[in-house]
Amino acid sequence: MCGIVGYVGQKQALEVVVAGLRRLEYRGYDSAGVAVISEGVLEVRKRAGKLANLEELLGADPLPQSTTGIGHTRWATHGGPTDHNAHPHVSEDTRIAVIHNGIIENFAELRDELRAAGVQLTSETDTEVAAHMLAREVPIVDGDLPEAMRRVCRRLEGAFTLVALDREQPDLVVAARRNSPLVVGVGEGENFLASDVAAFVEHTRHALELGQDQVVVLTPDDITVTDFAGEPVEVRPFTVDWDASAAEKGGYDLFMLKEIAEQPKAVADALRGRISKDHRIQLDETDLDESVLRSITKVVVIACGTAAHAGMVAKYAIEHWTRLPVEVELASEFRYRDPIVGPDSLVIAISQSGETMDTLMALRHAKEQGARTLAICNTVGSTIPRESDAVLYTYAGPEIAVASTKAFLTQIIAAYLVGLYLAQVRGLMFEDEIRAVLDELDEMPSKVDLVLDTTEHVRELARELADSTSVLFLGRHVGFPVALEGALKLKELAYMHAEGFPAGELKHGPIALIEEGVPVIVIVPSPRGRAVLHDKIVSNIQEVRARGALVIAIAEEGDEAIAPFADHIVRVPAVPTLMQPLVSTVPLQVFACEMATAKGHDVDQPRNLAKSVTVE
Ligand code: M6R
Repeated sequence: MCGIVGYVGQKQALEVVVAGLRRLEYRGYDSAGVAVISEGVLEVRKRAGKLANLEELLGADPLPQSTTGIGHTRWATHGGPTDHNAHPHVSEDTRIAVIHNGIIENFAELRDELRAAGVQLTSETDTEVAAHMLAREVPIVDGDLPEAMRRVCRRLEGAFTLVALDREQPDLVVAARRNSPLVVGVGEGENFLASDVAAFVEHTRHALELGQDQVVVLTPDDITVTDFAGEPVEVRPFTVDWDASAAEKGGYDLFMLKEIAEQPKAVADALRGRISKDHRIQLDETDLDESVLRSITKVVVIACGTAAHAGMVAKYAIEHWTRLPVEVELASEFRYRDPIVGPDSLVIAISQSGETMDTLMALRHAKEQGARTLAICNTVGSTIPRESDAVLYTYAGPEIAVASTKAFLTQIIAAYLVGLYLAQVRGLMFEDEIRAVLDELDEMPSKVDLVLDTTEHVRELARELADSTSVLFLGRHVGFPVALEGALKLKELAYMHAEGFPAGELKHGPIALIEEGVPVIVIVPSPRGRAVLHDKIVSNIQEVRARGALVIAIAEEGDEAIAPFADHIVRVPAVPTLMQPLVSTVPLQVFACEMATAKGHDVDQPRNLAKSVTVE
């Protein structure tokens, strides 16, 4: 949440910063603001609403030229999305400008202290206290902004990335991080920092991962990193393995459409290099210790939103292949309920961004209990993989649209690989059984491609149903988390009531929601898999149809038995049961995207949301 960009170098800072903010706007779009230093003056422009509003302001009231600047795009926590609460915040003496991502939990106490000292606070944000505190510390430490930052950080509680400019030191940007993302881009005669490499990847692919509680000091030619006590620390360099074009729309109207279309490639990339020529799973890159995998007695998945749905899908597969119990827990609940985890548990944290605070906190709790931890993550160098014992990257490429699409499919692939690897290491499946599943996985990129070729019908349906007030989704077995995912997509994009249910549960209450004409989307299990599941879902369809529901069946090619029971059928390729989520989710993504478009919503940046949720 909140996007942060900083630049110091030879270029016009404003251009670099605004371009960076454009790439980070997915992180929050309640307001945007920039600050530059010019001729000993801090110049700030900020505006509520999307970045376009700020750009309009910059057109009407341009900033002077400067080679040092910072920028911020906000997802509001403390204080509404107003011009006043927009970042940067400036100290009373106009010497220091600060931008911030996270929550300063002891801000009320610090604010009272500042007020008692006669400081006038002008916004409702927690951030503003940091600007005033820095301004008070800087003279005490003879203008040493990095030291002032360290002294302030030692007093802050909560999660924060803070970035500061000092009008007296025009070639300097100082930043600090605790529990909030921050990466450094290393250039030649210029340096960058940002919440996400996307902000600077068009300038450099050389980056540095920062650790917890560190302060980084950027000048055009130098980068130094210390801890909050001022001790130098080692930072890990890495190279961004995608280029700027991967974070562009590439001819699509929406990032979401592009990311849906990228799914065959994303699935292929998630599998690449992980299956040996002799059909064994090789996950050497993960540092998963085989003796640990042999000793664990259960698996616990912690994740949020779409990632949790991927975990729920994986539960069916991992339990089936390994006979190990798999619990899937919403990360936001995990550490608050005294969960039973310990050295015999493998805790898998699934996260696209690798920065989700709920998941990070759950991961830390699991580690404290002695659990072995594995991250399934898309963002290289992010906090969750860094803090896990092992990591399996999904390699889906940057996902910019707030609604997760390719991340979901690749999270399932990665979790399946972990499940098969567990079975392989523990000797629980015959080699030919593993090989059969690997062959099925191998076919998935082309199967997903086939789904993408046939989405026109689902688009038409979305447009026809755009005025519905509610849509229900039903599934059984792996179709249940798919139903949840379809409902989540519709809620977040079309802003409508949508619920996913296990089809068998409907009669225990939710069936009361059915009235004449309510669209019910049913993920129909394959009749070739466990036929009983197909038969049962047909009964469930009958139950809702008898009460007036409009039934849309997501059914495999060749399932003619479903035809008499559905008002509409959306066909997906016939695949084995455990592979079905990889094909049946895609029409639901398309449905939500099209319906939101028909309603005139901003699909890539739905209201109230942010891509990376870095607050609890
Ligand atoms: O980055 P993460 O995978 O940890 O994010 C978890 C959820 O916030 C995320 O999946 C969210 O539910 C998506 N916007 C859903 O489309």
